[in-house]
Amino acid sequence: MADTGARLVDVDCLTKAFGSVAAVNGVSFHVNRGEVLGFLGPNGAGKSTTMKMITGYLSPTSGTARIGGADVRTEPRAVKSRIGYLPEGAPLYGDMTPEAYLDFSARIRGLKGDDRQRRVRDVIARLQLEEVLHRRIETLSKGFKRRLGLAQALVHDPEVLILDEPTDGLDPNQKHAVRKLIAEIKTDKAIVISTHLLEEVDAICDRAIIIDHGVLVGEGTPAELRARAENHNAVALALPMQNGAKAAKVIGAMPEIARVVPTASGNMMTLIAYPKDHVFAADIVAARLRSEGIDFHELHTEAGRLDLVFRQLTIQRQVA
Ligand SMILES: Nc1ncnc2c1ncn2[C@@H]1O[C@H](COP(=O)(O)OP(=O)(O)OP(=O)(O)O)[C@@H](O)[C@H]1O
Ligand SMILES: [Mg+2]
Repeated sequence: MADTGARLVDVDCLTKAFGSVAAVNGVSFHVNRGEVLGFLGPNGAGKSTTMKMITGYLSPTSGTARIGGADVRTEPRAVKSRIGYLPEGAPLYGDMTPEAYLDFSARIRGLKGDDRQRRVRDVIARLQLEEVLHRRIETLSKGFKRRLGLAQALVHDPEVLILDEPTDGLDPNQKHAVRKLIAEIKTDKAIVISTHLLEEVDAICDRAIIIDHGVLVGEGTPAELRARAENHNAVALALPMQNGAKAAKVIGAMPEIARVVPTASGNMMTLIAYPKDHVFAADIVAARLRSEGIDFHELHTEAGRLDLVFRQLTIQRQVA
């Protein structure tokens, strides 16, 4: 990865109040060149509002956002030329054709002549827009509108991409194609993508942040976030029903194990053993069962589920 030290996006204590409600409340993060940052949070958490402030479409109540060192508020022109933005929802200009829209988008980014034509052709090919080029945008399907929005964000080959739910409304093949595209272009860019699809975090994000009610509640690599899941390092094992009760008793008595949850399915029993402090315990659980002469079919360690982490970090706050 080239030059990962370069901090292309630097967000410091960004806040946006709508009346008395703080939609975004003191959010800070950064993204380096070569990195894809996932931006997660429940509906209404403040993701789109944050993205609008980073891209200069909404002015912050307080705090700063810098793109390649340029302050969004005081150097908007420098920022606009370095940033590509896919807003949520459909593109504007429903009367235009995609071809005219992309040409227009390239023009307002200062691209000229052959260079402009080359860039427009390039994004048309990358986003597979050939078949809809001459239709009116408002008649396109949701997926094509989304891809057109992405093409518009990429047309000037910006260093920073802010993509608000880029794969929303795409079919599985197109989701895959867009994720592949992001992986291909990320080397020399800093990319922020908001998403509700946690598998997307695994597929393309180097790090993720989670916000809730405008406040940052979690941050880390996918592996680091998983390590915070309730079931991180839980030992799952399957065994014949008649061995279940004894196994649960033996494992539950081990000093390293906090609790055991049994589930019956058919003539099999599944046990999930949760180690204290999430320590790795698969080897000692297996050794203990063998020493007791208890047969089991399968034993594996849970990595931890991102959806559990998401819920732990966001639902608890709502209840609290
Ligand atoms: N222009 C506005 N005026 C008043 N309130 C607004 C405005 N824009 C957003 N909000 C409020 O700010 C909060 C954050 O909204 P935002 O659209 O940023 O959330 P989000 O995380 O993008 O949600 P989603 O996952 O549904 O896209 C919400 O409570 C929303 O109603
Ligand atoms: Mg949003």
